[in-house]
Amino acid sequence: MNETPQKQNTTPPTECKAWSQLATHAESWKGVHLRELFANDVARSVQFVAEAPGVRLDYSRQRVGAITLRLLSHLAAERGLPEWREALLSGKKINATEDRAAWHTALRAGNDSPQEVRDTLARMRSIATKLRSEKSFRRIVNLGTGGSDLGPRLVADALGDGTLEVRFAANVDPRELERALEGADPASTLFIVVSKTFTTQETMANAEAAKRWGARKFIAVSSNVDAARKFGADEILPMWDWVGGRFSVWSAVGLAAMCATGADAFQDFLDGARQIDRHFAEAPLEKNVPVLMALLGAWNANFLGAATHAVLPYSNALRLLPSYLQQLEMESNGKRIDREGRSIGYATAPVLWGMEGTVSQHSFHQLLHQGTQVVPVDFIDISTNELLTANARAQADALAFGTDDASLPPHRQYPGNRPSSILFLEKLNPGNLGRLIALYEHKVFVQGVLWNINSFDQWGVELGKEMAKKLLTRR
Ligand code: F6P
Repeated sequence: MNETPQKQNTTPPTECKAWSQLATHAESWKGVHLRELFANDVARSVQFVAEAPGVRLDYSRQRVGAITLRLLSHLAAERGLPEWREALLSGKKINATEDRAAWHTALRAGNDSPQEVRDTLARMRSIATKLRSEKSFRRIVNLGTGGSDLGPRLVADALGDGTLEVRFAANVDPRELERALEGADPASTLFIVVSKTFTTQETMANAEAAKRWGARKFIAVSSNVDAARKFGADEILPMWDWVGGRFSVWSAVGLAAMCATGADAFQDFLDGARQIDRHFAEAPLEKNVPVLMALLGAWNANFLGAATHAVLPYSNALRLLPSYLQQLEMESNGKRIDREGRSIGYATAPVLWGMEGTVSQHSFHQLLHQGTQVVPVDFIDISTNELLTANARAQADALAFGTDDASLPPHRQYPGNRPSSILFLEKLNPGNLGRLIALYEHKVFVQGVLWNINSFDQWGVELGKEMAKKLLTRR
């Protein structure tokens, strides 16, 4: 049964009053430069700031004013955001095309989590703690792809403490598994096969290759218990149909991450995300950080014409964040059909891309500063390293203000007026990584509401899979 909110707005967003007001308002922004906005309003850098637990969002360098924000909030209200938010957080079946809930928040709800979630977390804790203390396995290899890989890979890479060597193989190209197994021996290598469906070609191919290599022990994480049993997994941890792959790092899909970080750190990661869930549920729309992130993204994409969006974490530990967010945002909101099955005539998810700063500065920032496309940027600034912080801030200022010196030759001029936000985290720890990921999850959900799309299915990936299968059977 489809459990969309009673008060849902089924009209296309373009027919909302606030949408046409925003379109008119966007016209009035033509020719307004961020330089002037800062010069004319000394309070701008404190006015356009919002806080959530552990995180500060500075969006003063976005091309918005108080009226823009008011209209964007009206749009969110007209789209029924409060009702949709309630439906998401209470586990209603809002993924209508698959008749499922999208209840990832229940995975980090502590004592309010369903019993099966708490039991699974306890099993994960006992497995990870034993593996980390006994060291009977020197290497853990996670076999999975998409949401069954990107989340645990990101968390392990960002926060792994080196107690266990945790590797990942996602590609059907055998080279990745070969690399993950370099220097390993079958007796001391444990494989975690993560696949919600347990049918994904890449993961199954890698799991079979691991068997041929002589693997002795497999833990499976799946909702397809029969298939995992048939494969011969020694232990099976559950996944639930109400958790989407790209929202699943909080579940047993995170087992490899827990092995890398320790169970307490993983719990802190969950607790950090839970704080953001509470903020998302309770903060007024105009102060709600994930809501603001979503509204600003929609403003840039739908009214200022941005086709892409860059995420630049100024942190080597977060170097995998852009690829994680690519799946989260683009698999969720890269859609052209709305909830009513109509073709969409407005922009949905922009192409998300990025790289760790400062490395990115010596690669593609030329285009950010002087290219013909305007690319809104999220800078992620972990305020523990002054070199990184100074660089992130300098890039944001250079994009916003550019140069104002007519004596410079054209090739040395920077137009500026290029929007960005800075997300400040005090340090990179498990709680803050949980907070950061949860912020983007809710941002994605809010944008789905604004655009009237189901963010929780991914039918667009099926055709290619079927075609590849056919090509293989024809051989
Ligand atoms: O092909 C896309 C996808 O279905 C993702 O949504 C998912 O995260 C990934 O494949 C892996 O799926 P599974 O966990 O079922 O192997």
